Amino acid sequence: MGRKFFVGGNWKCNGTTDQVDKIVKTLNEGQIPSTDVVEVVVSPPYVFIPVVKSQLRPEIQVAAQNCWVKKGGAFTGEVSAEMLVNLGVPWVILGHSERRALLGESNEFVGDKVAYALAQGLKVIACVGETLEQRESGSTMDVVAAQTKAIAERIKDWSNVVIAYEPVWAIGTGKVATPAQAQEVHASLRDWLKTNVSPEVAESTRIIYGGSVTAANSKELAGQPDVDGFLVGGASLKPEFIDIINSAT
Ligand code: G3H
Repeated sequence: MGRKFFVGGNWKCNGTTDQVDKIVKTLNEGQIPSTDVVEVVVSPPYVFIPVVKSQLRPEIQVAAQNCWVKKGGAFTGEVSAEMLVNLGVPWVILGHSERRALLGESNEFVGDKVAYALAQGLKVIACVGETLEQRESGSTMDVVAAQTKAIAERIKDWSNVVIAYEPVWAIGTGKVATPAQAQEVHASLRDWLKTNVSPEVAESTRIIYGGSVTAANSKELAGQPDVDGFLVGGASLKPEFIDIINSAT
């Protein structure tokens, strides 16, 4: 069976109740392919999750943008994986580069989070990606492999993991990776999984691209053999997200 196209919308730290209502309305009214063809997940800030979840069409799922690394308790300001499960939130984004860079999340910490979230029954969008400096010094694949290795060392079952390759230099900059650049890293990552995890996991794990994806560039990126979908930031707040979802077909 082929890998089902996956489109995630990461709203990041954006939105008011009015804006959220508008985005949900657009998502509910948009023409999108059936869930047999594309899996769509949107990720609002925690505070909006209940309202989005209750109003969104059932074909679109919800993700949190983060969760705590272990069982909840005395961790002020954190939200646990158990709470997300309790709320019926199926997905969580972990290891986003903004959290790695701004909040100092290490590869090991992200790996621990992925393992814990999966063990609680969440599905995980695990983010990896290099900075501009790392790309220019030729270490893209070493960086991405080290980030993926920290996850691979901690989990056995990859069936509930989607890897998001998000080059940091492409995030929010308007500088999208070319289809060839994206394909090159996705293919290398798949190869890494084949060698270091298993050929089956390499074949079945979806590797999605994130970084300045828009309706204008999504179709060509989607045409690459190892690009299995997108994690969209800025454009997921706009009506063009519907067109990006439709680049699955
Ligand atoms: O998680 C999404 C990525 O950070 C991409 O963000 O589409 O605004 O570049 P962007």
